[in-house]
Amino acid sequence: MSDRWYSEAVVYCLDIDTYADSDGDGVGDIRGLIGRLDYLARLGVTCLWLHPIHPSPNDDDGYDVTDFYNVDPRFGTLGDFAELLHQASNRGIRVIIDLVVNHTSDQHPWFQSARSSPDSPYRDWYVWSDQEPADRYQGMVFPGEQHETWTYDRAAKAWYYHRFYKFQPDLNTTNPAVRDEIKKIMSFWIQLGVAGFRMDAVPFIIERTEPGDPNPELDFEFLTDLRQHVQWRRGDAVLLAEANVEPDNLPAFFGDSGGSANRLHMLFDFMLNGRLMLALARQDPEPVVEALRDTPALPQGGQWATFLRNHDEIDLSRLTAEQRNEVYAQFGPEEHMRIYDRGIRRRLAPMLGNDRRRIELAYSLQFALRGTPVLRYGEEIGMGEDLSLDGREAIRTPMQWSNQPNAGFSTAEPEKLVRPVIDKGEFGYEKVNVTLQRRDRTSLLAWFERMIRTLREAPEIGCGSTSHIDVPMPPGVLAHRADGPTGTMVFLHNLGTADAEVDLSRLQPEADLPVDVLADRNYDDVGKLDKLQLSGYGYRWIRLCRSWSH
Ligand code: NOJ
Repeated sequence: MSDRWYSEAVVYCLDIDTYADSDGDGVGDIRGLIGRLDYLARLGVTCLWLHPIHPSPNDDDGYDVTDFYNVDPRFGTLGDFAELLHQASNRGIRVIIDLVVNHTSDQHPWFQSARSSPDSPYRDWYVWSDQEPADRYQGMVFPGEQHETWTYDRAAKAWYYHRFYKFQPDLNTTNPAVRDEIKKIMSFWIQLGVAGFRMDAVPFIIERTEPGDPNPELDFEFLTDLRQHVQWRRGDAVLLAEANVEPDNLPAFFGDSGGSANRLHMLFDFMLNGRLMLALARQDPEPVVEALRDTPALPQGGQWATFLRNHDEIDLSRLTAEQRNEVYAQFGPEEHMRIYDRGIRRRLAPMLGNDRRRIELAYSLQFALRGTPVLRYGEEIGMGEDLSLDGREAIRTPMQWSNQPNAGFSTAEPEKLVRPVIDKGEFGYEKVNVTLQRRDRTSLLAWFERMIRTLREAPEIGCGSTSHIDVPMPPGVLAHRADGPTGTMVFLHNLGTADAEVDLSRLQPEADLPVDVLADRNYDDVGKLDKLQLSGYGYRWIRLCRSWSH
């Protein structure tokens, strides 16, 4: 593995509260997670991304923090957390945590103090306006659930700014004291042993917000500063950021100093996510080809994080309205499967009609594309969603471990569970669970293990360059390659239903002993690469050549 471990990582994200409950109170906890580390190690995960772990009133699933220097008491203690880091490290797993510093909860003592008086030492830690700002109704991130971005606070006798829900007042990151505090928070967790942060809402963190200005300037130097700070504290710490902005604006988030990224190491590839959804919906790889072509070149050390599903709705805002409707028609046809016009609140397996071939195809494609793959808990066993729950909660149900009561997640009475387990239909825990799939060598879980192992044997996918192989292709088929110091991999993915034959003989001169290393079924040997068979929804990962001398 190279020093840039994050380029070859397999990231798995989870909410502690819905993963595993060790003490039977109905809420998942750190000790429960520690008990599942062997499962994650076997799956091949090398980095865990934990959703917010801090104390919180939980009005936004922990993205509303009341104390940045502690863990939510429902999850355990700081001691438990240190033990988690130790146990994870023993298994070669790094841990990164969500850092949510664009805003706090309105219950945070800082905000409580700030609102209480203009003389509070924390007053200037938030963003205020004495008058009603002209942009009060602009810039909402959650239209439909959020009605304004400036709210009048009676106690403060002033308006405060919030990009997100009104219980999430934005921190004033132009204030040097706030900047210092953010660095202190990062130092604290790095000192405990985290390998980095998933930074929430980064474009908003660096806004120089002024009342009445809906398009404030962005202060990228603050990111340079944070990066330097983090790197001094831990050389290999990583910043993985959520910055869902127009592609042209992405390079500034990586930064570039003499050709090397000097701000964020990794960004989630939202553009690719939307294009993958469109490609799957159309059964046509063209949107992915476009995405590969259109994404800006990265400075050294910059890396994409790819994903199909995360803890939020599928955000299709980077697609045109027409494209969005195509995806909706296929994957979220009913209104209750969507959150207003913001996106689809479903997991992947039900979106793809629980068609095993299609699920494998989709994940094979995500993992074979450039970047570091991020997998959301439960996807590895093909969990479903519960659309009777509100908003994004639909995809935040407890992990399904077994066919024991509460899916083996908790021994509490069902009404005490943090969220109900899915217990009905084809995604009910009696049909979809880890224990069942563990025993079955043909299960989706077994497939994920195999696929991830194969990926880890092909580091050029993460750290090499990826390009579309632009030769005539049957409809629905994508061919791409990954080249790196370790050699070359070639990938075929058939997004359509018709069987196909692909001619890649022009790659023959580069091949040493070409061989399938992963495929949806047993195919004939790759031969001269001129008659490669590919089933409908099929995929083949072919090692073209291997360099042992890197
Ligand atoms: C982005 C997170 O992914 C989302 O879950 C959260 O609601 C907002 N940021 C606000 O923190």
